[in-house]
Amino acid sequence: MRLKEKVALITGGGSGLGRATSLLFAKEGAKVAVADINAASGAQTAADIGEMGGDAVFVEANVATAAGAEAAVRGAVERFGALHILFNNAGIAGTRTMASIEEVTEEDWDRVLGVNLKGVFLCAKYAVPEMKKAGGGAIVNTASIAGIIGLHAHAYGASKGGVVILTKTMALELAKKGIRVNAVAPGFIDTPLTRGSYRGLDDQQQAANVARLADEAPMGRIGQPEDIAHAVLYLASDEASFVTGHTLVVDGGFTAQ
Ligand SMILES: NC(=O)c1ccc[n+]([C@@H]2O[C@H](COP(=O)([O-])OP(=O)(O)OC[C@H]3O[C@@H](n4cnc5c(N)ncnc54)[C@H](O)[C@@H]3O)[C@@H](O)[C@H]2O)c1
Repeated sequence: MRLKEKVALITGGGSGLGRATSLLFAKEGAKVAVADINAASGAQTAADIGEMGGDAVFVEANVATAAGAEAAVRGAVERFGALHILFNNAGIAGTRTMASIEEVTEEDWDRVLGVNLKGVFLCAKYAVPEMKKAGGGAIVNTASIAGIIGLHAHAYGASKGGVVILTKTMALELAKKGIRVNAVAPGFIDTPLTRGSYRGLDDQQQAANVARLADEAPMGRIGQPEDIAHAVLYLASDEASFVTGHTLVVDGGFTAQ
């Protein structure tokens, strides 16, 4: 087991990449605190880990607020007594992700930056003191290929580009404290966010979305949440003990084009 006796806090653990990573971490021996703004799906992930014979707790939290981020960290520490790993993953695409710069609303900009970038900062802010107490730790932030290349998503891309540089600044500050900070930059992954279910698309439209993206992908498919979970596992584990400040692109070759 690669995470035996480790305590991990996973934000956005109720769905997609966060859920897959929560399940994988539990299989690898971690005690998992699942934080999500969606109480039903977050509690479901924690219950599923329990059924697998693992140890998990659900904490309802909005990571875009200081109170929510602090509650997420406190929930993990109160239940498990320490914190070693933070997967800073909760994120949203915004209501009109591909809107032109003239059409992006201030409200959408603030919401996307609030969850995707400020949420990463806030969770790290409250997790780092706990990791220092534990003698070290690992933070993995979820960036995106949209934070590396221009994908016509202004607010989303800006938030993820911010995550890439915040990963480096935190990594340098914390390197001598035994806390590593890395990021994953997923390409298109089959989750509700990519399918467009939040935008009210029906099943057929969602399937068409996935088929179009698969068609344009070098491998002829988009990724599965487990493709990202395994990359996060590596970065969070001691196998990556000399890796910090890095953004690991996991995109099936999309940005190699
Ligand atoms: N799916 C992709 O193709 C893809 C690609 C690149 C990056 N990402 C990033 O991966 C991360 C996970 O996305 P996903 O595809 O699994 O999406 P998802 O919608 O399946 O899961 C996101 C989870 O985050 C939770 N969440 C949203 N806002 C929150 C908040 N304020 N506080 C706490 N929880 C909140 C949601 O309730 C949900 O459970 C996001 O940061 C996303 O930007 C996804």
